[in-house]
Amino acid sequence: MASASLAHAEHHSASLTLPFLWGAATSGYQTEGNSTNADIWLLEQVNGTIFKEHSGNAYDFYACYRQDIALAASLGLNSFRFSIEWSRIEPEQGTISHEAIAHYQDMLRACHENNLAPCVTYSHFACPRWFAARGGWESPDAADHFLRYCELFSRSFGHLISVASVFNEPNLHKLILHANPLSDRAKTTMLAQAARACHSPTFSYYLSGDPQRVEAAMISAWRRAYDVIRSGPGQYPLGLTLAMTDDQAIGDPAARDLKRAEIYDAWLCACREKGDFIGVQVYTRSLTGPHGTVPPPAGSHSTTMGWEFYPECVEGACRYAASVSQRPVIVTENGVATDNDSERQDYIRRAITSLERAVADGIDIRGYYHWSFLDSFEWASGYRPRMGLISVDPKTKKRTPKPSAFLLRNLCPKKSMIWQL
Ligand code: BGC
Repeated sequence: MASASLAHAEHHSASLTLPFLWGAATSGYQTEGNSTNADIWLLEQVNGTIFKEHSGNAYDFYACYRQDIALAASLGLNSFRFSIEWSRIEPEQGTISHEAIAHYQDMLRACHENNLAPCVTYSHFACPRWFAARGGWESPDAADHFLRYCELFSRSFGHLISVASVFNEPNLHKLILHANPLSDRAKTTMLAQAARACHSPTFSYYLSGDPQRVEAAMISAWRRAYDVIRSGPGQYPLGLTLAMTDDQAIGDPAARDLKRAEIYDAWLCACREKGDFIGVQVYTRSLTGPHGTVPPPAGSHSTTMGWEFYPECVEGACRYAASVSQRPVIVTENGVATDNDSERQDYIRRAITSLERAVADGIDIRGYYHWSFLDSFEWASGYRPRMGLISVDPKTKKRTPKPSAFLLRNLCPKKSMIWQL
């Protein structure tokens, strides 16, 4: 496989050459532990929380990153996806942590030293608590705060980045509401308690608030962020990642098409207008008949997350994202929650076969990241769902690769691909 690399570390403004990106993905909040200044940390602690357990010190990735990055490289991957946590960089409004900046710079360097192209997410769900207390994305000056973070981020890390997405799944709230229109009700008590705890009636996090208003604010922030980040340092592909299902129509496709238009199209079009790639994050399919969502067929089985086991979802989601966005696609997340690693191996093989079908049909796919690198904190579901290629002993933090971790090495569909922005 072409080396990702990363003789380009510290490349400043030179244009990057990248291989087909072949990696595993994580996010900061889910693995680092003790993200005490994040909005979600507060939500986990309040009475009436919807979180099944606390993230605590998670899997201590904040301390173990060098060992973990070396482990990712030993699996034959050429890229590693992770997020930088705004709440660590700016724990209080206007207070910058130079320790956190140095920490993430070292993480980026560790990726390059291990020939892993760092694929970085600017914002993976968690935001600083102070930002949520001001009203999160519903506050009129949200984009200004976010843009200041993007400028600092870009100045501090841009020269070390190989590929980046600004937001992780900014459409997730809409997708969840579509699947369960009453889901916001369950959060009411938790949000009220969080508002009380931080003495702010306006507390709002990424899965609350008016979805239309939040979407409009985030799309406008995305447009501005793209220009700020594009002006350097670093010349790396910059995109967005979306939460998707492979949406299949049963009979008349009108209702399915409407769902797609409502949940994805504003972002796919925003990326078409400005964006170097679209990140597809897909785990299962969703069936829609003329009157709405149809349950999975009899005999299908579900994963620990309660989603239908359907690895072929990759193909359909990539085709749709590519057709509307007209941008190259990177599968930035795909995986399965299971305690049975043979099932994960089966999932990986079938998912990659479906990816290959899309590639063979000329869909411009430039990378695939398996979710997740480590078993990690699955947000409201806690630690129960296991999606990692690597298991972690909760007490000793010892990492043990599962057999599925060694499977990816030989499955890359475009080993000789080289591309650049
Ligand atoms: C998110 C991850 C999450 C994964 C599996 C995606 O929605 O980006 O943070 O762990 O799905 O639930």
